[in-house]
Amino acid sequence: MWTSMPAADQRHSIAVAKRAVQGARSSRVPVDERDLVAAALLHDVGKTGCALGTAGRVAATVAAWLVGHRTVAGWSRRGGWRARAACFADHQRIGAQLLREAGARPLAVAWAASHHRDLSDHCDGRLGVPPAVARLLAAADGD
Ligand SMILES: [Fe+2]
Ligand SMILES: [Fe+2]
Repeated sequence: MWTSMPAADQRHSIAVAKRAVQGARSSRVPVDERDLVAAALLHDVGKTGCALGTAGRVAATVAAWLVGHRTVAGWSRRGGWRARAACFADHQRIGAQLLREAGARPLAVAWAASHHRDLSDHCDGRLGVPPAVARLLAAADGD
């Protein structure tokens, strides 16, 4: 799944994984580094099938900002660019589903599903990501 990601997404995911591991080691957060690396490398895998280039991604992001994330995510049956924008807006759910079906590590599935959620949503771990790990991954991502 990772090798099918666009090169820019691969580079970003490697940088996130490196920062997350460094952060875990320096702050001594108790987490399996393989889980952490898998979560970092695959958090945006749901974007892969959306067939949107950089300009399209920017446009989809602006559209979500203008009309709301739910509205854009609801364009999936519209066809054309709007369907691709819907895919991009829904990449958390799509990525988590792909990872779940592939038997990925639970932390990778949970982080793919929730990496754009507010950090406060992770405060009790109910989204499947321990709060300290969510803080690490979010800090390592920075987007
Ligand atoms: Fe994302
Ligand atoms: Fe990211």
